[in-house]
Amino acid sequence: MVKIPPHFFDHQRDVESQPSAVIVQNETKKSTSNHNLKKLYIKTYGCQMNVYDTQRMSDALAPEGYENVDTPETADMVILNTCHIREKAAEKIYSELGRMRKMIEKKNKPLKDSQKTKPIIAVAGCVAQAEGREIMRRAPVVDMVFGPQSYHKLPEMLGKLAKGQKKVLDTDFPTEDKFEALPEAKPANIISRGVSAFLTIQEGCDKFCTFCVVPYTRGAEYSRSIARILNEAQNLVNAGVREITLLGQNVNAYHGKDDAGNTVSLGGLMAALDKIDRLDRIRYTTSHPNDMDQTLINIHKTQKSAMPYLHLPVQSGSNKILAAMNRRHTRESYIEVIERIKLARPDIALSGDFIIGFPGESDADFDDTMDLIKHVTYSQAYSFKYSPRPGTAAATMDGQIDDEIATKRLHQLQQLLNDQQRQFNQNTIGRTLDILFERKGREAGQLIGRSPYLQPVYVDAPEAFIGQIMPVHIESLGNFALKGTLLD
Ligand code: SAH
Ligand code: SF4
Ligand code: F3S
Repeated sequence: MVKIPPHFFDHQRDVESQPSAVIVQNETKKSTSNHNLKKLYIKTYGCQMNVYDTQRMSDALAPEGYENVDTPETADMVILNTCHIREKAAEKIYSELGRMRKMIEKKNKPLKDSQKTKPIIAVAGCVAQAEGREIMRRAPVVDMVFGPQSYHKLPEMLGKLAKGQKKVLDTDFPTEDKFEALPEAKPANIISRGVSAFLTIQEGCDKFCTFCVVPYTRGAEYSRSIARILNEAQNLVNAGVREITLLGQNVNAYHGKDDAGNTVSLGGLMAALDKIDRLDRIRYTTSHPNDMDQTLINIHKTQKSAMPYLHLPVQSGSNKILAAMNRRHTRESYIEVIERIKLARPDIALSGDFIIGFPGESDADFDDTMDLIKHVTYSQAYSFKYSPRPGTAAATMDGQIDDEIATKRLHQLQQLLNDQQRQFNQNTIGRTLDILFERKGREAGQLIGRSPYLQPVYVDAPEAFIGQIMPVHIESLGNFALKGTLLD
């Protein structure tokens, strides 16, 4: 039976400004009755890259005898896979560590000293990378801290603890490639994660937008080789995956090498992936407007497996703010890219990210952003109040915006984006769309799937349809999702 984590549909919604807040996703594969297995609980915060990393950490720990459980209480090891993008996301980690400390104290209270136990507590991800030593200092409950480029060293780090080392801290950017050193996922583990899978093809970022921590937490831009990606994609498909979302913080800056040593762009990689039989849908995220080359744009016209959906953050509609953000594109160049995409694929669904209240943002700058949104029209989008991040250039800029003003602007902007989302969804009512069924719905006999435009759709259909793509007539729009009926 295909079992998909309950938060499966939330992973696109890493947003404090959306109802579901910052994503939290657990690797949920119930432990079997084998008592020799150690129990691993991983809680994931942040972006899809972290979701992917969590899966790869599970894969790296499986040969060490660890199996995933979905609560921390019984776990032998707890990993918090963290996000540093905004202050709120980072602070969450310290409250979670406080909860862990209390959970351990409560469990140990009735026990004699000799019986007391403690799971290994590890902090991974972008907060670990950015403030590893601070975590060790503030939270003595933590045994291990390691950054996003060190996951392949997990067995080695565990070995150090087993040998009696008290704490392990690894926040280097190692010269070896973590992907090449990580073990392949087992087919059963792959399919337990769902028929739509993530695959990181590119890591890090060299763009240094002035608000953003990613270049510091993930390191320099790096592209995996074509051969490795094709091999991983084939393994996913062999296990039953039908849709792959290629991941990177700058996914369309991808420039991996093929076997002959030639550099291949994302468009070239998409074309190579298209040859994999039964890989029906390919998506990619997150793209930068400056890296949308014409080869990639044309793929949306010529390649059926390239889904008509594009997440293309613009952040602001004001050229003054875009320059202060060091985005290296203008409002006009963004619109020009969108026009070229719409020419290639008129029905493309567009998504974006917006930052409100960046230092120096005037009413006129905000109006420019509202105006851009009205011009482009989005099928969905994420919006954030600017959060000053330590070490970034914008954190010390003049003209920091009053929180009340930023909140008001954010509210206004979200109203517009919500209206556009509703309108986009409404426009699909009455149409017949191919739906990839992904998991069981809340009600008996119901499945949830995704349209090509990434809209969740509820349909009455047998469970055996999970993993299949079928034409569905879209009937109505509820609060969160569309409802449809199978054509026959
Ligand atoms: N690499 C992607 C996304 C980076 S992080 C890109 O270039 O678009 C995801 C989103 O978080 C960003 O697009 C931005 O909208 C938001 N973000 C990043 N840093 C932020 C900050 N300091 N405050 C508020 N939002 C931020
Ligand atoms: Fe951050 Fe900018 Fe790089 Fe995106 S392109 S990850 S926003 S620095
Ligand atoms: Fe957060 Fe790191 Fe992703 S800071 S958004 S988890 S790259």
